[in-house]
Amino acid sequence: MIRYLVTGGAGFIGSNYIHYLFDKYDNNVHVINLDKLTYAGNPDNLKDVENRPNYQFVKGDICDAALVDELVPRVDIIVNFAAESHVDRSIGDPDAFIKTDIYGAFVLLESARKHKIKKFIQISTDEVYGSILDGSFKETDTLEPSSPYSASKAGADRLAFSYYVTYKTPVIITRCSNNFGMFQYPEKLISLFVTNALENKQLPVYGDGKNIRDWIFVLDHCDAIDFLITNGTLGQVYNIGGGNEKTNIDITRLILQKLDKPASLITWVTDRPGHDRRYSLDTNKLTALGWKPQYDFDSALTKTINWYKDNTLWWSKIKTGEFLDYYKKHYKL
Ligand code: NAD
Ligand code: TYD
Repeated sequence: MIRYLVTGGAGFIGSNYIHYLFDKYDNNVHVINLDKLTYAGNPDNLKDVENRPNYQFVKGDICDAALVDELVPRVDIIVNFAAESHVDRSIGDPDAFIKTDIYGAFVLLESARKHKIKKFIQISTDEVYGSILDGSFKETDTLEPSSPYSASKAGADRLAFSYYVTYKTPVIITRCSNNFGMFQYPEKLISLFVTNALENKQLPVYGDGKNIRDWIFVLDHCDAIDFLITNGTLGQVYNIGGGNEKTNIDITRLILQKLDKPASLITWVTDRPGHDRRYSLDTNKLTALGWKPQYDFDSALTKTINWYKDNTLWWSKIKTGEFLDYYKKHYKL
């Protein structure tokens, strides 16, 4: 029985990861989910697992060393998803990003070191490399993060590495590309645009819409993490990508087409300051170990759209609450 401490498990990827673990390992895993329930943490994401005897939810902050020190001795593996994760919010208010993404990772690493954890997975991001116009980033490339979000993630990424080098803390670092899928807070490109289109609201495309991201279905990301826990080498960094590089405007048009909505819903808005033009990952290091994504982009996008269609209550609750004020202020719509 492997015992996991999943941090940020009430958010988008963390909740998908907890579902993934129970779907795959059923009662052969135990999961403690430590989550502060910020605006992005949503207990609704875990309703179907909350009564499992092998699941425990703890509402708390990864920056709280006393709480973390209570939980860490009870687990074998820490998977650190907890973070402030939205670039636009980091531009407006970076404070929480520095606290959670860097200091919170430090608190977890310290506890992992003290209690001799078996494995520590730091969920980093492809954004730590910055933008690349030609070619793709390898794990050994220089980090040039360009937003307060990506800079704070780069800090945690390198701090985790330093714990491996200095204390032999058994760390693995993953840098994944843009995820999409079920339970994604409707502020990111795909979740926002799908839900706006369903409401016949405008889809605000930044700048010229030609920025490129590599997209991966969230369950493929979860599967890659699980794969690396077994097959990854300690102290190493692994890029995880879907191999689906798309411009924002192409994705926008595809969403409208799949929902049979008019192109007039597209609205061009002022570009994000410091907007990274393109993200691209070389994933040979991971694929050489024998892992590859299972989902193709088009059918995973359809599956995602159908989920938002079938779960209107999930996102409309969010969009009529705190999100609405943020959204109106941010887009001046
Ligand atoms: P999310 O914003 O949906 O979820 C973050 C979760 O962390 C929320 O449940 C929130 O309540 C929790 N949290 C925030 N601060 C906390 C704190 N101080 N203590 C405890 N919990 C706290 O984010 P996500 O999109 O699911 O991303 C999860 C992780 O994956 C992040 O580390 C992010 O950097 C990384 N990542 C995300 C993507 C992506 O495309 N979404 C891609 C690569 C890497
Ligand atoms: P986002 O989902 O915020 O992810 P990230 O910036 O972390 O890659 O944005 C993905 C791309 O979509 C990015 O180039 C910014 C763009 N974008 C828009 O054009 N409009 C929007 O409303 C949002 C949220 C993003």
